[in-house]
Amino acid sequence: MANKSQVVAVAPPTWASSVTGSFHFVVALLVTALVVSAVYLSSEQPQLRSPTPTRRSSRCDLFSGRWVYDNVSYPLYKEKECSYMSEQHACEAYGRKDLRYQQWRWQPHGCDLPRFNATALLERLRNKRFMYVGDSLNRNQWDSMVCMVQSAIPPDLKSLSYHYNASLVVFRAHEYNATIEYYWAPMLVESNCDNAVSHPADHRIARAQAIEKHGRRWNDADFLIFDCYLWWRLPEIELLWGSFESPDAIHKMVEMTRAYEMALNTWSDWLEMHVNKSKTQLIFVSMSPTHKKAEEWGGVPGRNCLGETEQITREGYWGNGSVPAMMRVVESVIEKLRTRGVTIHVLNITQLSEYRKEAHPAIYRKQWHPLTKEQLAYPISYADCLHWCLPGVPDVWNELLYTYIFRYIHT
Ligand SMILES: *[C@@H]1O[C@H](CO)[C@@H](O)[C@H](O)[C@H]1NC(C)=O
Ligand SMILES: *[C@@H]1O[C@H](CO)[C@@H](O)[C@H](O)[C@H]1NC(C)=O
Ligand SMILES: *[C@@H]1O[C@H](CO)[C@@H](O)[C@H](O)[C@H]1NC(C)=O
Ligand SMILES: *[C@@H]1O[C@H](CO)[C@@H](O)[C@H](O)[C@H]1NC(C)=O
Ligand SMILES: *[C@@H]1O[C@H](CO)[C@@H](O)[C@H](O)[C@H]1NC(C)=O
Ligand SMILES: *[C@@H]1O[C@H](CO)[C@@H](O)[C@H](O)[C@H]1NC(C)=O
Ligand SMILES: *[C@@H]1O[C@H](CO)[C@@H](O)[C@H](O)[C@H]1NC(C)=O
Repeated sequence: MANKSQVVAVAPPTWASSVTGSFHFVVALLVTALVVSAVYLSSEQPQLRSPTPTRRSSRCDLFSGRWVYDNVSYPLYKEKECSYMSEQHACEAYGRKDLRYQQWRWQPHGCDLPRFNATALLERLRNKRFMYVGDSLNRNQWDSMVCMVQSAIPPDLKSLSYHYNASLVVFRAHEYNATIEYYWAPMLVESNCDNAVSHPADHRIARAQAIEKHGRRWNDADFLIFDCYLWWRLPEIELLWGSFESPDAIHKMVEMTRAYEMALNTWSDWLEMHVNKSKTQLIFVSMSPTHKKAEEWGGVPGRNCLGETEQITREGYWGNGSVPAMMRVVESVIEKLRTRGVTIHVLNITQLSEYRKEAHPAIYRKQWHPLTKEQLAYPISYADCLHWCLPGVPDVWNELLYTYIFRYIHT
């Protein structure tokens, strides 16, 4: 797969390069999607931020709500106190001055979220593997989760390790024999982007029918949290039948939603066949929105998230990057799986994240390549409007995940 356009990240492997490369060109928006399983939780009387998760009786859509400024409870941790945080999310360390983006609580319309309790979560994860699988947005969420729990663990009782060429990174809480892991599989199925450190930015090829190489790394996990979206955001995707090395392999350009559906079917078939339904909880995180075009929210054309300090206040705002057709594919794949007895919960974070145009790193993050004169003269050109600063929005995704785990998922 010697590909000319390899992006090579330096130093500790991060998944930054993955989207740095694709950032300029691909990407742009996201969408999300997914969905499916009802996202309703049962609840009783509304209760204020109860410290221990409680069950409730009326139905509540966790993902419909509003952001409430709360500088008392937030941020949930301090950037400087989390040594595990990737430099691409550490916005404060990289010069961001306005820090209000760290201080927002998500308030669902019909209920309250339980207060996040790291110790309670670790207890719940005792002797378990809790694992995120996907692209750099999922890595962003993993990073957040590690920061949310690590302060509850003394220094000599936690560790971080890399495996399989850094495709797998494992945070271990020794006392609990629990791991919080992240596995790099940007297209979920096999692709020429699977090397976590070095992957082509602009010439992606996916084997839509092959997932075994990845799946065997995680099929015995207790919790699997997937995402899959960004790397598919091209009009067409090059699919490969056969191996990357074989001269006889067949390559074909396929319309994106069709290719995406093929890949997700491969993924869902794998889950059905290889995952122990009474053991493994499956969660799919919907698309994370991007804020690359200010005109979408009525801003100045040509600008993006750089310099934004306020949220979008229009309820129901939906950016152009969040592709409904991909959401529909996810919904149908998950629904099909449900009829076959496999439940995947959808963490539908798209809408709530759409409002947060002010919460991306923009230029306040580590750059993996020296900036050119042209870039320096025009910072909008290299602003990251795709990932999220930490502490920040992904912490809330994890609070929603936490809510699921305690109120909704029963094992
Ligand atoms: C996620 O929520 C949006 C509305 O915010 C909805 O349109 C979409 O269908 C939902 N997706 C899933 C998979 O539930
Ligand atoms: C929280 O914000 C309020 C209003 O902006 C301010 O008066 C107060 O000092 C802040 N408290 C903290 C702990 O930052
Ligand atoms: C957090 O959870 C632990 C373990 O369940 C419990 O002992 C502790 O009281 C909880 N802390 C708070 C603030 O609720
Ligand atoms: C530790 O957890 C793993 C699963 O992640 C399990 O296989 C193993 O038995 C556990 N070890 C102990 C001593 O309980
Ligand atoms: C690690 O990377 C090297 C070179 O890129 C490759 O030859 C090897 O197969 C990889 N190993 C694994 C376990 O992926
Ligand atoms: C599936 O998981 C359950 C609960 O952990 C366990 O009792 C059962 O033996 C597992 N089944 C298989 C086929 O491994
Ligand atoms: C949003 O996308 C549609 C369809 O691709 C396009 O016509 C429209 O101009 C876009 N709007 C903005 C603000 O980019």
